[in-house]
Amino acid sequence: MTASSTSSSELPLASWARRLAPSAIQDMLQIITRPGVFSLALGLPAAELFPTEGMAEAAARVLAEQVGALQYSPTLEPLREQVVALMAKRGVRCSTSQVFLTTGAQQGLNLLTRLLLEPGQTVLLEDRVYSGFQQVLDPFQARRLTVRRDARTGLDLDGLASLLASGERPAFFYTMSDGHNPLGTSLAMDARERLVGLAREYRMPIIEDDAYGLLHYEEGGALPPLRSLDAQWVYYVGSFSKILAPALRVGWVVVPESLVFRLATVKESSDIDTATFTQRMVLSFLQSGKLEAHLTRLRGEYRLRRDTLLRALETHLPAGASWTKPTSGMFVWVELPEGSDTTVLLARALETQQVAFLPGQAFGVSGGRSASHGLRLNFSNCDPARIEEAVRRLGTVLRAA
Ligand SMILES: Cc1ncc(COP(=O)(O)O)c(C=O)c1O
Repeated sequence: MTASSTSSSELPLASWARRLAPSAIQDMLQIITRPGVFSLALGLPAAELFPTEGMAEAAARVLAEQVGALQYSPTLEPLREQVVALMAKRGVRCSTSQVFLTTGAQQGLNLLTRLLLEPGQTVLLEDRVYSGFQQVLDPFQARRLTVRRDARTGLDLDGLASLLASGERPAFFYTMSDGHNPLGTSLAMDARERLVGLAREYRMPIIEDDAYGLLHYEEGGALPPLRSLDAQWVYYVGSFSKILAPALRVGWVVVPESLVFRLATVKESSDIDTATFTQRMVLSFLQSGKLEAHLTRLRGEYRLRRDTLLRALETHLPAGASWTKPTSGMFVWVELPEGSDTTVLLARALETQQVAFLPGQAFGVSGGRSASHGLRLNFSNCDPARIEEAVRRLGTVLRAA
């Protein structure tokens, strides 16, 4: 028998790897490339808004001026200085010694989990959670304990407090305070304060995923993240993917200084360096002072797309559906009456109307069905006319159901 004809059940895989199934996102990446599909499914930024000219100039400068641009390199101090300045705009005071550069936020989440979690230990998650984070947990076979994060009422802090009071000691709590994926919601200030208070009281680290925190749409900006309230128990994860471009694969974490060398050591075992060249491109772009204008443009365009989506939902969705109104991020979460199954609806939506969304089950913990009557819609990737048409089609599917 040749290697290529070995079926996966015969592969000598670790037990957790044997249980792996293709992710909903991988499946969807295939589906949305079919001609004629209107997709509100994935969290992709708008490609036409990438700062290609500024990036091309930055790349040319880096290649012309820096001999080491294509070499292995130690971590880039000036980029960490730029991150410190960006964090200050986000309301966080930190120093370069607390900033660690990563290959996107995803790697930040992965490395922190590897440092914090013993195999088989408990982690605390919200009951609607970014599917990519559950993938990070898979190799650890962690026990996943959940706390309710409701689209209307927010994070169930009473539930969280009683879990901790009952003696549960999770390795960490993973959360998003702004532009939640998939809910699109943000935590109120008093919830942030109470959550950080609980983390301190029970010495429970919080991994704060702020992949969308710099994309905010209301006057006065977003509230400060959890990291602004505590530098010891909150480990912050940020990214240039949504504000510049995901293909750069540059992100960062802000952690207590004593964690940094450990992060560096586990990262080295994984990919040695964050891509030296794209790091330098990002740095050169930031040094050219173009980020602020770019962010203003992005926020303006995404605000327009969000408003278009919300108006279209009012017009086309049947009674009984409700949805969130995000102030940050890229997603709106729609809830249908309990008992609806949006995985079944997705198949029908693709077949009859060629419209795509991500079904709630993709965000349920351990494949649980508590989110199955919800669906996630993205508003950053399509222009307003396509958003309008996609929602019109979605409305037709929902009314027929
Ligand atoms: C909530 C959340 N965290 C992290 C990531 C990973 O982002 P990055 O491209 O920076 O690795 C994503 C990507 O969509 C995300 O939605």
